[in-house]
Amino acid sequence: MCSHAEVPLSEGDVEGCTIECWLHGSQFDLRTGKPTGPPATEAVPTYETRISDGDVYVAVQTATQEPVK
Ligand code: FES
Repeated sequence: MCSHAEVPLSEGDVEGCTIECWLHGSQFDLRTGKPTGPPATEAVPTYETRISDGDVYVAVQTATQEPVK
């Protein structure tokens, strides 16, 4: 979820290690969750992942970063 207005970032555009929110254009570093472009100022959680045989595994129980409030 985008930390700016709680819309799904899964609908955003990914380029390199950056995802851009579709609603107002905030950008986040996919590795850290930190915002890299306005208007968002708060980080989003990140999750440990790995790719095996073309499948993506996400450890959703072990968020590596809590949103910064
Ligand atoms: S809701 Fe994502 S930038 Fe505003």
